[in-house]
Amino acid sequence: MEISQVDAIVDRYDAAPSSLLAIMQDVQDEARYLPRDAMARIATRLDVPIARVYQMATFFESFHLEPRGKHICTVCMGTACHVRGASRLVEQLERDLDIGSGQTTADMMFTIEEVNCVGACALGPLVIVDGEYHGNMTSGSLQKVVKKMRKAETKGGTK
Ligand code: FES
Repeated sequence: MEISQVDAIVDRYDAAPSSLLAIMQDVQDEARYLPRDAMARIATRLDVPIARVYQMATFFESFHLEPRGKHICTVCMGTACHVRGASRLVEQLERDLDIGSGQTTADMMFTIEEVNCVGACALGPLVIVDGEYHGNMTSGSLQKVVKKMRKAETKGGTK
């Protein structure tokens, strides 16, 4: 992410220190994570200690400090989903995408993440793909979802 992009976001909030959280969120929305140099720039522009930015970034689970893929596949590993086979779904994703859980593909297209109960236990096992909940997920339906995402990317790449 270019520093000018960070500056543009900070400017939208008039560099107000009270907007720190919103600025960090907007930066993450754009970069899909919080790059270290972006956090340093935010701290400088808002005139807040860098330690405060890091503190916020590590306190809120919604912030990510490592690069993430364009598509995020999040498998719920809460008890209800776990007993209904969530681990098998993670293993399947790992095989299909050839990465481990918590990792991102080399082309920066896919990231596999695990999360604890998201409060939709009746739908378990649950996989959240790019923010969309897919309940009662089976091996077959997960494969279809991944295939569909790959196909969409291939089409997008040929434009
Ligand atoms: S355990 Fe998965 S939604 Fe509750």
